Amino acid sequence: MNIGGQIFAHFYDRIFERTERAGLTDMRRELLSYATGDVLEIGAGTGLNLSLYPKAIETLTLAEPEGPMLKQLSRKVDGSVLQVVEAPAEELPFSVETFDTVVSTLVLCTVNDPARALSEIRRVLRPGGNLLFLEHVRGEGSIVKWQDRLNGINQVVGHGCNCNRDTLASIRAAGFTVLRVSNDKLPKAPAHLRPLIWGIAQA
Ligand SMILES: C[S@@+](CC[C@H](N)C(=O)[O-])C[C@H]1O[C@@H](n2cnc3c(N)ncnc32)[C@H](O)[C@@H]1O
Repeated sequence: MNIGGQIFAHFYDRIFERTERAGLTDMRRELLSYATGDVLEIGAGTGLNLSLYPKAIETLTLAEPEGPMLKQLSRKVDGSVLQVVEAPAEELPFSVETFDTVVSTLVLCTVNDPARALSEIRRVLRPGGNLLFLEHVRGEGSIVKWQDRLNGINQVVGHGCNCNRDTLASIRAAGFTVLRVSNDKLPKAPAHLRPLIWGIAQA
């Protein structure tokens, strides 16, 4: 059993508490207000989005590959969730065109293969379906060199998290049409983790 993964999952909500209170929860809520129909959330983690989904969605499916995270998640899951599956975003165990919305919050920084994960997301989305994303990303200007320098240590501390990915470029390269994107900052985060994007990309 991976002890780093257990510690990360155990303390995850506490690590994010100040950031959530300082504005991340509000961003999550606004992003999720665009969720419609059958919804899949990838890398659902400890379930910080769960209470923020609009009541009007049809179904909610959660995917998460890490056992310790799944354990934390199971404590928050209630009858509003259709199913929880143990799966990485690169290998989603669903048929083509199963969902109207896929949600990814702070996940594409950590997946092993962003291009493959995005291709899977496209595959399971119905035509015209939306990817709702909220991701910390590669910044601009002088911060970039620090993001590149710190990425190795960030992966260790952040349990596989990369701080220097150009995720918007990856979303476009995967064939999505970006309908809306906001450039923001991850509140109360160190400078190399601060550049944040959130928005909607259509399959
Ligand atoms: C920083 S946490 C974000 C958790 C949650 N989405 C949130 O917004 O709080 C990153 C999550 O991605 C998950 N993850 C790691 N590798 C993944 C993969 N290949 N596919 C999907 N999720 C992955 C981790 O287990 C963890 O739950």
